[in-house]
Amino acid sequence: MTSQAKHIVIAVDGPAAAGKGTLSRKLAVHYGLKHLDTGLTYRATAKALLDRGLPLDDEGVAAETARALDLSGLDRTVLSVHEIGEAASRVAVMPQVRQALVEAQRAFAGSASGAVLDGRDIGTVVCPDALIKFYVTASPAVRAKRRHDEITGNGGSADLASIQADIEKRDARDSERADSPLRPAADAHLLDTTEMGIEAAFEAARRLVDAALER
Ligand code: C5P
Repeated sequence: MTSQAKHIVIAVDGPAAAGKGTLSRKLAVHYGLKHLDTGLTYRATAKALLDRGLPLDDEGVAAETARALDLSGLDRTVLSVHEIGEAASRVAVMPQVRQALVEAQRAFAGSASGAVLDGRDIGTVVCPDALIKFYVTASPAVRAKRRHDEITGNGGSADLASIQADIEKRDARDSERADSPLRPAADAHLLDTTEMGIEAAFEAARRLVDAALER
């Protein structure tokens, strides 16, 4: 059976810079599905607050901002800067913000022929009934190196040690929060990309999705 024949949702979770975005985009193209990087929804909420000079920790204001978000206007280039990632993980601890964004993410997942969503809580909270779930991880050193190379490759300058420290701090905040902490769903397939290139990870994921589609 092909992806066109039934509504399919692919959930991809994992810590920062593990390769889940690249993997998700490749899966979306391969199966003809829409893709949502849910991290961008938290980043856009944080950026809207910062732009208006509003505090990041006022739950009512942040939730209102999250509810007003237009998913079609998320600009990856603008939102990918490091400071916004840090602010996003602070905004993401607030349950009312999560509730507003999860609602929008579920609506996205339910539309058209299906979707690939990547984030921290897709398999556990947003789409617990997804056809298939992946948890993509890699060692903090490898993740920091990838983020570093991405920044320098785009002409920026970056310090490897401080990137790794920031990644570890964000992982800790994401894993230790009370609402929807970062963790693999019980039925997620683990993909450790520490040694594996993205092509190999994609091939492994594709075989698992094909098998799930046959069931
Ligand atoms: O994946 P990305 O680095 O863009 O995510 C930014 C932040 O948004 C994460 O550190 C996390 O705190 C939050 N996030 C989340 N749940 C998601 C996606 C992202 O809490 N599903």
